[in-house]
Amino acid sequence: MGGCRICGGDLSVFLDLGRQRLSDVFRDPADDSPEFWYHLQVAVCAACRMVQLRDEVPRERMFHGDYPFRTSTSQRMIDHFTRTATRFHEQELTGTDPFVVEIGCNDGTMLATLAARGVRHLGVDPATSAVADARRRGVNAVADYFEQASAERIRKQHGAADLVYAANTICHIPYLDSILAGLDVLLREDGVFVFEDPYLGDVVDLGSFDQIYDEHFYLFSATTVADLAARFGFALVDVERLPVHGGEVRYTLARRGTRPTSPAVAALIAEEARRDLHADQTLANFAEEVARRRTQLVATLTALRAEGNTIAGYGATAKSATVLNYCGIGPELVPVIYDTTPGKQGLLAPGSHIPVRAFPADPADYPDCFLLLAWNHAEEIMAKETAFRAAGGRWVRYVPEVSVS
Ligand code: TMP
Ligand code: ZN
Repeated sequence: MGGCRICGGDLSVFLDLGRQRLSDVFRDPADDSPEFWYHLQVAVCAACRMVQLRDEVPRERMFHGDYPFRTSTSQRMIDHFTRTATRFHEQELTGTDPFVVEIGCNDGTMLATLAARGVRHLGVDPATSAVADARRRGVNAVADYFEQASAERIRKQHGAADLVYAANTICHIPYLDSILAGLDVLLREDGVFVFEDPYLGDVVDLGSFDQIYDEHFYLFSATTVADLAARFGFALVDVERLPVHGGEVRYTLARRGTRPTSPAVAALIAEEARRDLHADQTLANFAEEVARRRTQLVATLTALRAEGNTIAGYGATAKSATVLNYCGIGPELVPVIYDTTPGKQGLLAPGSHIPVRAFPADPADYPDCFLLLAWNHAEEIMAKETAFRAAGGRWVRYVPEVSVS
């Protein structure tokens, strides 16, 4: 088949999630133009074992001025990024006049902490409206795609960066050759590139197949990121597992030979080898589990509806497009999805066309059951919605398994 985006090796598809709509394109109910679709197939490279999408959606279709997602819709993520910024300030940004760049800064949730501390910084994000939100809070940000050419412009204008950071962004970018060339231009000789994204190991463990959608082009692991780094003169010098977004890994890359490597890197690579994480059989078992999950979820929702329960989706997450469209769940099973994001409210969810609305002001208007589409924020949501359960409300989940409780 050919075509690995990293090494050109042969790709083999192990999971087909069918025809899908773009996960962050919410639709005006009055719009009856045909919806763009693409084929969501997940493949592994025979040579470097990188897990990636077979088809690439043009970036301008996904990341544009109206990109609706905002980091600051989750208090737990705000806390996570405040801690991250504080740690960077204390550990990486200690020289005179340090400079930090964030790729995919969104509304500036992470950089706001560093801006308030007077650290020289720049956010880069193609989502113009998110960049405007970042600027309103005093964060320096430009609406642009990060790649080799923009990295060169930043270097010319601001000088070298001590740290480049990206959260939930690098896995969105197929052209990592240009990203790493850009880092080579932009980073100081002993600077670091730190990024965090959903971890293949957690996706396989949890069966969280909805981590796969148009924007999530890669599912990284320590093994494949170490290989990627080495191809471009960098080394993977640290890894840290993060308990956010259903399980992520934070990777630290430095130019080869400039930093000692943490023992955590060899430990995670050894664990991935021990469990055969990238083996065809492991990935085939995962795909079988995904098909089982679909059958169980549809049967569970159908039974709940037949018993006369009202059901609503909780959180119009990007990942919910995958689960709703792959399972064929539409308004007949889930008539509404509630979400706190203003830019999603009043619109229809991609593909499923389930209306997205603000949460009812009166808890008496809550449904009998919530389908927990924002399962990656479960802890925060459960803490917030104790009254729902106390009043007899039930949660329908599909990660880590289908359950009603
Ligand atoms: P994410 O999984 O990409 O972070 O998206 C989470 C979505 O869920 C986002 O649209 C905001 C929404 N959300 C709520 O509506 N209520 C909540 O309590 C949380 C945490 C998220
Ligand atoms: Zn490859």
